[in-house]
Amino acid sequence: MSLKDQTIVILGGSSGIGLATARAAIGEGARVVITGRTRATLDAAAAQLGKEARAAAVDSSDEAAMRELFAGIDHVDHIFANAGNVVGDAKLKMDIAAIRPAIDVRFWGAVYAAKFGAPKMHAGGSIVLMSGTAAVRPISGSAVGSAACAAVEGLARSLAIDLAPIRVNAIRPGLIDTPLIDRFVGERKESFLKSYAARLPVKRIGRPEEVADAVLFLMKNGFVTGITLPIDGGGAIS
Ligand SMILES: NC(=O)c1ccc[n+]([C@@H]2O[C@H](COP(=O)([O-])OP(=O)(O)OC[C@H]3O[C@@H](n4cnc5c(N)ncnc54)[C@H](OP(=O)(O)O)[C@@H]3O)[C@@H](O)[C@H]2O)c1
Repeated sequence: MSLKDQTIVILGGSSGIGLATARAAIGEGARVVITGRTRATLDAAAAQLGKEARAAAVDSSDEAAMRELFAGIDHVDHIFANAGNVVGDAKLKMDIAAIRPAIDVRFWGAVYAAKFGAPKMHAGGSIVLMSGTAAVRPISGSAVGSAACAAVEGLARSLAIDLAPIRVNAIRPGLIDTPLIDRFVGERKESFLKSYAARLPVKRIGRPEEVADAVLFLMKNGFVTGITLPIDGGGAIS
């Protein structure tokens, strides 16, 4: 299935994996709508992507804003619900209010995308949800964030039945070199990446373009639904 002339909504499309996916989709002839919370980052991303990209400042955890986003788009072919962050909870010692965004963005954001996006889609359309290796190899000190990833995988399986023939899949990346990692590990980045890469069969961490490639595969292959695709350099087996 070609992406030519298709409209793809990429939630969290202004940076890292989302931006790489937007670039790859445009490279295959699609139009994209990218979202994020920060206007300046969105504008810079849209300028890079060119005339086939439109940017909208929308927080994925804001139900009303998500309803409005999809109300303003006539037709949607594919959605990538990619928005999220690593939310630490200090082994549940943090206030619940500070931990809650882990679920609000990744899980409820995905639910809003499906609820308001699916009515704009036809058979042949698809939704890709963002999980992460933490779903199966939890990050210590991020139990809620890890559980949010697992919840998203369950959501993809269930929605693949409820929204059929729209296809719904999840992607489960391992460690990918993006601005999120810079924020997460800060000055320890080099040593962190080196030790992480050493335990992987492929001996390196992933690139956003490699995840983008897998997301486009899930959009284009009309016989794939209800799966979670790991793209982790063998992280799940090492
Ligand atoms: N990098 C990794 O190793 C890795 C591994 C597994 C899974 N993931 C997941 O992959 C996704 C993309 O991560 P990345 O590494 O590409 O990070 P990134 O470069 O920081 O990009 C995150 C994107 O999501 C947007 N975003 C964050 N919170 C949002 C919200 N509440 N509403 C709307 N947009 C929001 C960001 O824009 P604003 O900040 O301006 O809103 C940005 O466009 C995340 O869900 C992340 O958890 C990443």
